[in-house]
Amino acid sequence: MKFELPKLPYQMSDLQPHVSSETLDFHYGRHHKAYVTKTNAMIEGTKFANATLEQIVQESEGGLFNNAAQAWNHTFYWNCMTPANQTTPPKGGLLESIKRDFGSLEDFKKSFTQTALNTFGSGWAWLVKEKSSQLLTLVSTSNAENPMRQGLVPLLVCDVWEHAYYIDHRNDRAKYLEGFWNLINWNFVEKCYQKNEIENLTAQMTAAH
Ligand code: FE2
Repeated sequence: MKFELPKLPYQMSDLQPHVSSETLDFHYGRHHKAYVTKTNAMIEGTKFANATLEQIVQESEGGLFNNAAQAWNHTFYWNCMTPANQTTPPKGGLLESIKRDFGSLEDFKKSFTQTALNTFGSGWAWLVKEKSSQLLTLVSTSNAENPMRQGLVPLLVCDVWEHAYYIDHRNDRAKYLEGFWNLINWNFVEKCYQKNEIENLTAQMTAAH
C-alpha cells in the first residue's frame, strides 16, 4: 500500500514557543515527508508492497527499514505532543505504573530526560511497556531503531535528532527537552499504555485526538 504523510494533530504554530513553526515546517514538511516518500518508492514491486507500516518496521532491514521506521517514529512523536494549553496531567493506571517503576512523576521526567541527553548522536528516547510484566522502562535507540522490534510497546517518544531542535536551540538538546515537557499529550500516552498489541498503535493515533 502507498503511505501518506499523516496530518499533524495541530497547527504548525500550536507548539510555540517550545517548538517553532519553522522547526515544524522543516521537521514535518520536509524530513518526515521524505521518509514517507522514500518508503513508498522502496516497497514498490517488493514483498512489502501491501504490508502495513508496522510490518515493514518489524521485518525489513537496511534503507527500507530506516525510512519506514522514521516514518512511523515521527507519526508517533507528533501524537505524543499537544499544544501546551491543552495538556492534562497523567492519571489512573498510567500514573500508578509511573510511580511504581520510577518513584514519582518528577523522577520519571528526570530519568527520561537523562536517557534523551545520553542518546549519542541521532536517535530517540522512549518510554515503553514490557508486554508480559507490564513494567515500564526507558529505552534509547540510535538512528531509526524502534523498540517494537524487541517486542516492547512504545508509550512516549522524544526525537533527539538535531533536526528536531537545531533551528530553535542550535546544539542545546537540554533546552529542547525542557520545552518538550510542556507539550506532552498524556491522553495519547495513556491510550498506548492501555494497549498491548503493536498493530493497534497506529489505528489509535487518530482516535486519541
Ligand atoms: Fe525527526
